[in-house]
Amino acid sequence: MSNCTGHAISTLSSRRARYLSLTSSSSPGESRARATTKINSRCAAMEPAGSLLDNAVGVGDLVLLDPLSEKSIVSNLQQRFQHDFIYTYIGNVVVSLNPYKSMPIYTPAKIEQYRNSNMFELPPHIYAITDEAYRSLRDQDKNQCILITGESGAGKTEASKLIMSYIAAVCGKGQEVNKVKEQLLQSNPVLEAFGNAKTVRNDNSSRFGKYMDIEFDFKGDPLGGVITNYLLEKSRVVNQAKGERNFHIFYHLLAGAPAGLLADLKLVKDPNKYKFLNHKNCIHIEGNNDEANFIAVQQAMEVIGFAASEIRESVELVACVLKLGNVELSKVQEEESQQQNSMELLEVSDLMGLEDMVLVKALTTRTVEARGDRVSTTLNIAQACYARDALCKNLYCRLFSWLVHRINKSIKVHGESRRKVMGVLDIYGFEIFEDNSFEQFIINYCNEKLQQVFIELTLKEEQDEYIREGIEWIHIEYFNNAIICDLIENTQKGILAMLDEECLRPGIVSDSTFLQKLNNVCAQHSHFQSRLCTNSKFLSDMSLPHDCFRIQHYAGKVTYNVEGFVDKNNDLLFRDLSQAMFLAKQVLIRNLFPEGDPTCLNLKRPPTAGTQFRTSVSSLVKNLLNKNPSYIRCIKPNDHKLPCVFTEELVGHQVRYLGLLENVLVRRAGYAFRHPYEQCLQRYKILSHKTWPHWRGDARAGVETLMATLPISPEEYAFGRSKIFIRNPRTLFHLEDLRKNRMEDLATIIQKIFRGWCCRRRYQDMRKSQIIISCRYRGFSQKKRYIRKRQAAILIAAFVRGWRVRKEYRKFFRANASKKIAEYILQWKLRSYLLRLRYILPGMSPLDNTWPLVPFRLVQSTHEELCKMYHDWRCRVYRSKMTPTQKAIFEEKLCASELFKGKKDIYPETVAKTFVGLHLEQGPNAKHQKLLGSLPDKLIFSELVHKIHRANGKVVTRILLLTKANMILADPKSAHIKSRIALGEVQRVSLSTLHDGIFVLHIKQGSSAALKGDFVFVSEWVIELATKLFRLIMDCTNTKLEISISNSISVQFKADEVNMQLVQAEQKNGNLPVCKRKNRILEVTVS
Ligand SMILES: Nc1ncnc2c1ncn2[C@@H]1O[C@H](COP(=O)(O)OP(=O)(O)OP(=O)(O)O)[C@@H](O)[C@H]1O
Ligand SMILES: [Mg+2]
Repeated sequence: MSNCTGHAISTLSSRRARYLSLTSSSSPGESRARATTKINSRCAAMEPAGSLLDNAVGVGDLVLLDPLSEKSIVSNLQQRFQHDFIYTYIGNVVVSLNPYKSMPIYTPAKIEQYRNSNMFELPPHIYAITDEAYRSLRDQDKNQCILITGESGAGKTEASKLIMSYIAAVCGKGQEVNKVKEQLLQSNPVLEAFGNAKTVRNDNSSRFGKYMDIEFDFKGDPLGGVITNYLLEKSRVVNQAKGERNFHIFYHLLAGAPAGLLADLKLVKDPNKYKFLNHKNCIHIEGNNDEANFIAVQQAMEVIGFAASEIRESVELVACVLKLGNVELSKVQEEESQQQNSMELLEVSDLMGLEDMVLVKALTTRTVEARGDRVSTTLNIAQACYARDALCKNLYCRLFSWLVHRINKSIKVHGESRRKVMGVLDIYGFEIFEDNSFEQFIINYCNEKLQQVFIELTLKEEQDEYIREGIEWIHIEYFNNAIICDLIENTQKGILAMLDEECLRPGIVSDSTFLQKLNNVCAQHSHFQSRLCTNSKFLSDMSLPHDCFRIQHYAGKVTYNVEGFVDKNNDLLFRDLSQAMFLAKQVLIRNLFPEGDPTCLNLKRPPTAGTQFRTSVSSLVKNLLNKNPSYIRCIKPNDHKLPCVFTEELVGHQVRYLGLLENVLVRRAGYAFRHPYEQCLQRYKILSHKTWPHWRGDARAGVETLMATLPISPEEYAFGRSKIFIRNPRTLFHLEDLRKNRMEDLATIIQKIFRGWCCRRRYQDMRKSQIIISCRYRGFSQKKRYIRKRQAAILIAAFVRGWRVRKEYRKFFRANASKKIAEYILQWKLRSYLLRLRYILPGMSPLDNTWPLVPFRLVQSTHEELCKMYHDWRCRVYRSKMTPTQKAIFEEKLCASELFKGKKDIYPETVAKTFVGLHLEQGPNAKHQKLLGSLPDKLIFSELVHKIHRANGKVVTRILLLTKANMILADPKSAHIKSRIALGEVQRVSLSTLHDGIFVLHIKQGSSAALKGDFVFVSEWVIELATKLFRLIMDCTNTKLEISISNSISVQFKADEVNMQLVQAEQKNGNLPVCKRKNRILEVTVS
């Protein structure tokens, strides 16, 4: 390999010498020395003191290296590496040495330090170039790509992760943005688990190429991304080289899956039990925890958005591959039902959701269609094993592509908004193994193409541009590997085209026929070597086996063994297998083999693996060429993955093939920076008052005027046709600093003006407010004053008027005042009397005779009237509360009062007594009962009265019964009725004025009862008797009974008219009167 590179470099040196000899008349050595001296002196001249150089070990930028040679580059890298400075610049290319140890230079503090700072202001770091690219994307709208190259184990994948984590840290925050960031970051562990493996060069070697486009919005916040994967090294699934492992996921699954899951997947924990894992006896990687990694992968899948069922299906598929590897086809074929094998097959079929016989048939037979006939042939053991391995490789490879597709689905950016893109390319590094096959050929081809891009974008483009722009510079020779790319990819004579031709050719095709073809076609190519080359130049080269060919790559010579080239390029899977997989009930497996669907049979041959790869690489290259590139050139310091070990030879080799020396030379000879005039003027016109704020003329003239006014030496820049070229990065930074300061000044001016404007506005607002406030206040105070004045004026006027009126009316006032006052006092007194009276009214009882004293005489009559009214009112209230019975009693009492009040002395005594009516004792006397029972109508009054005998004045006892229509007198002993007087026969009644019970009943003359004459009784209840009689007669006859009250009563005894004289005297016989008749005079003495 080193020989090959040495050759490349010597070719390069000779070309450079040739060029120098052409550009100078002196000897090649002299002119080269002169050129180098010139460059070095230029370099020395532009070497400024700055942070990049401050305290630097060696030089931080190889452009500043003096003297400049391959050796000095290596020793500078070594010096820096030994002091843990793993990054070094070549202009804006970062050279990164793998430290193989954890470094304290990726902390959040470091991120903060590099954030928004100029690339050359701080020590070289991957963060600086990332920040530069990110800011260019965010602020200048330029799509970016970061190309990470270097050989396997040089640190590309680590670098890509550092880039992603830096971007995640510096871009915006927010729930949605953080989710996107997490998804983008978490895609790494998933893809690494399924796509990385331990190789002899790298414990975590990427066995696929990855290009990730991260998409940002206008603010620079990530929106999502797209991952493109390139050719997974699927042969690793079934076979690994010595000291190497299968893909990590197999070991992660066995170590990390819980017992339940392992049982479900029908797996055992021990990797040694699986043929795809155990045959190179390399299971564990030092410092690697498969168990924890399995959990991390699962979590990462969840974060990305994989459904639980999808995760499950993925691991099922991994398990299927592992178990398929253990199926021993010899035994299956012979149909020996040995338990273990048949179990394995049954379990795989079960996991896939296939009938076991379908799988067995697919693995052991092949159906060929010839002229419409389907012929099934049984495969021999080798063919069956081949079919099984092909199935395993295909299953795994398709699973990997599905994972990438599924991740892309999650991180895909939705919507049509304008996006900016940053691509990060981490593709497998240049590989030289002991035994190199088709995969290495493809990988190295890819690296050739990337080197081509590098050359295109940096060396060639740079030099071409100087020529285009008419800038004077020194041409630097470099090795352009386009010739090697052409050897591989030329569509007519390229190796890939030959391989395709061989694969598609009818007849017997094998790897050796392919080699023969190469020997014929490529024999003359300077970078192709083979033992049987037609020019047989290498016939005696024993290091080149017969079945191999060798390509002198830009990074060294690689010998490829042709075995498997045709097969791997064909990349065909027997249709029986894809059809069987399509029958699987496991959804993922079924979906991975759409071509197995018998309904959509596609007989068109798919493009070969080589062609597919060539197409995808050329589209990648096209994509990269459209973007603003940044480079990270990764270098491996030693082959033993050891920290602090620097193998000069190994590094020297990489420095050589990466073309770092040429890179530095071109960088030094040229100009560090160029800017189209329009853009330059636009960016820096603020630095001169001649161009600021507007430059009316041509952009170039503007830039020239601008530069002339700036304190920058004219040697530091040159004017091209369309661009200005700035020689030294420092000059650019100086310009940037000036711009930054000027921006700050401008910002200050803008701030000043804005603040002034704000203050003025505030002042004006305040003034307006003040005017409004003072105007309102003045208005208010004037209004207040006016109101006060008005009130005062009204008062004064009132006083004056009052005074006048008083004066006017004083004479009348005296005359009327007393009357008015008296009236008023009277009114007031009456009012207060009435108001007071309501509080001192007597109780509601009609019997309550109390009444407040009259307060003053004036209201005497009113007072009495009120007393009466009050009494009437409470009587009315009292009456309204009476029952009908009470009412009847009171009516009687009222009647008695009207008849006797003030007329008869006994009356007052009766007032308080109720007229009960029936005074006769209602005893068990049967005669009385009979009497009472014989009464013709209702009994109203009964009493035992004393009847005065008409003739002699003696007293006899009689029962007096008063019914509704009659008065009956009966003997109290016999109860015989003595007299019956119809009430209509009663003419009148006479009573004395005295305190006696004399009751004279005058009978109408001519009536039947009048025969004996009038009746004289002594009744204990005389008032009641008379009242009831009065009321009954009124009821019966509707005439008022005449009641005479006198002490001289004229009575009719039969024919005699007798004068009854009533005298009051002391009585001897109790209450009974004493009657004495003398002729026509009856003297009655009462007590
Ligand atoms: N910056 C770094 N700091 C610490 N260790 C690192 C760094 N870069 C790389 N390494 C170590 O080197 C190993 C290999 O790095 P990495 O996997 O990135 O190589 P690679 O270039 O991607 O190789 P391949 O082409 O095989 O994928 C890492 O696993 C890590 O241990
Ligand atoms: Mg890698």
